Amino acid sequence: MKKHITPHRGEVCRPDREQQNGHRGAVFWFTGLSGSGKSTIAHKVEKALFDEGRKAYVFDGDNVRHGLCGDLSFSREARAENIRRIAEVSKLFVENGIICMCAFITPLKSDRDRVRDIVGEGDFHEVYISCPVEVCEERDVKGYYKLAREGKIKNYTGISAPYEEPKNADIVIHSDRTSIDDSVQQVLDYVRECTANGK
Ligand SMILES: Nc1ncnc2c1ncn2[C@@H]1O[C@H](COP(=O)(O)OP(=O)(O)O)[C@@H](O)[C@H]1O
Ligand SMILES: [Mg+2]
Repeated sequence: MKKHITPHRGEVCRPDREQQNGHRGAVFWFTGLSGSGKSTIAHKVEKALFDEGRKAYVFDGDNVRHGLCGDLSFSREARAENIRRIAEVSKLFVENGIICMCAFITPLKSDRDRVRDIVGEGDFHEVYISCPVEVCEERDVKGYYKLAREGKIKNYTGISAPYEEPKNADIVIHSDRTSIDDSVQQVLDYVRECTANGK
């Protein structure tokens, strides 16, 4: 706790909000290479949850880089700070009883572990969207793999920067051999189970 800063305690607490929402808040952290399918799956899951009347929100790597994290580069330190900020914001959302899905490459185990520490073990779920780099490169959704190969983008995960594969993810989706619909269904079932009130 910072010196000379005393938090004000509100009159509405997390269980009140979760009761009203009809589900628990939690963070589902999607990690995987660029082009593995994090955004595609997270946004489809968000839509399905929204249609069921649940409070869900996606934090997407590329979107926050324009605003909240617009001042950060892609150096190792800046990437860590990017992740730390999103972890802190999603923790606030969880206090609000919201289901957060965070779609960030998060290539380093140390950064993923830090998110787990910030958010708290019971509220954090690691979702690994697994896909071989060759397949991601073939998809090249944004054309960045080509630029990375040409050396026009530096520190590109999977090409010129490491991706440390999660060894103990809570759920793994193999997007190279699972349809989009099935991938979404698997994540959706998992999210529903983890966010049921009373869990
Ligand atoms: N099972 C799957 N899950 C998610 N995306 C898939 C799957 N199979 C193929 N794709 C395709 O892979 C690409 C994933 O891109 P995107 O979601 O932007 O990746 P990321 O957010 O991880 O960078 C999309 O073009 C999508 O249509
Ligand atoms: Mg994405």
